[in-house]
Amino acid sequence: MPFWPFSNSINNMHQLIDGKATAAAIRQEIAAEVEKLLAAGQRRPHLAAVLVGNDGGSETYVANKIKACEDAGFTSTLLRFDSNISEAALLAEVAKLNADEQIDGFIVQLPLPGHINAEKVNESIDPRKDVDGFHAVNIGRMVLNLPCYLPATPHGIIELLKRYNINTQGKHCVVLGRSHIVGSPVSILLARNTQPGNCTVTLCHSRTAHLKEHLLQADIIVAALGKPEFVKADMVKEGAIVIDVGTTRVSDSSRKSGFRLAGDVDFEQVAPKCSYITPVPGGVGPMTIAMLLKNTLHAAKKDFYG
Ligand code: GUN
Repeated sequence: MPFWPFSNSINNMHQLIDGKATAAAIRQEIAAEVEKLLAAGQRRPHLAAVLVGNDGGSETYVANKIKACEDAGFTSTLLRFDSNISEAALLAEVAKLNADEQIDGFIVQLPLPGHINAEKVNESIDPRKDVDGFHAVNIGRMVLNLPCYLPATPHGIIELLKRYNINTQGKHCVVLGRSHIVGSPVSILLARNTQPGNCTVTLCHSRTAHLKEHLLQADIIVAALGKPEFVKADMVKEGAIVIDVGTTRVSDSSRKSGFRLAGDVDFEQVAPKCSYITPVPGGVGPMTIAMLLKNTLHAAKKDFYG
């Protein structure tokens, strides 16, 4: 029971972190950079996306990436393959993209069908063109704080914290989920000696004991476990900063599409306790694409690898 009996009066004081508006601003900055490249006689940055099969989520993500390229003034190429493409054939396509001087960077959309070894495909991408930042070379360089492509979603989270002037130094951050795409890299980025960064990070996962006790210690929660509305109000400290990375499709017959996107946080319950919170949709999601464009711009300018 708080000493101050009017603790409710500080409720609902949370500030929404608007990823949609922030991403739009970043995309405009990138478009302006493209104009500068063109004025200097360079060609447009060129991103290629490889899509294998017809996964609904992947189709949407890749279509959004291609559209964002157009809006920013990039050239884009979508390479589609049937879900039964062999691993060898896909590796041959990656080799072609590695060698194509007209392509600055490319991504292979995940997940891949079960018969293809995704790690093998990932490691076959030239790190200089790995604008997803998933290759072991880029991950290693990230850990060492060397110039590299940072994975888009974790980088988007860092950029949101930066643009909202949120001081993370000395804060205790609890990350939920240890995926290679979000949980593991964001825990590394937040622990680095940078601003945003300098957090004390606890990385929780499916085998973590006493999860609620960890969460209640958190000044910052990054929820990236892929379980809709998992984080409830009784798991969150008053005044915490909550970053929701979840984007699970849950069926919703009231929508034309038949589904809605659900975050990992029960927003209605949790938001009143927070100092800052990201919504779903419109929080971290739009930042992922903006940061992919940023990496592709870096690739076109050969900023990291010469
Ligand atoms: N699948 C889910 N997120 C991503 C991403 O950021 N990049 C790729 N390539 N696949 C994904």
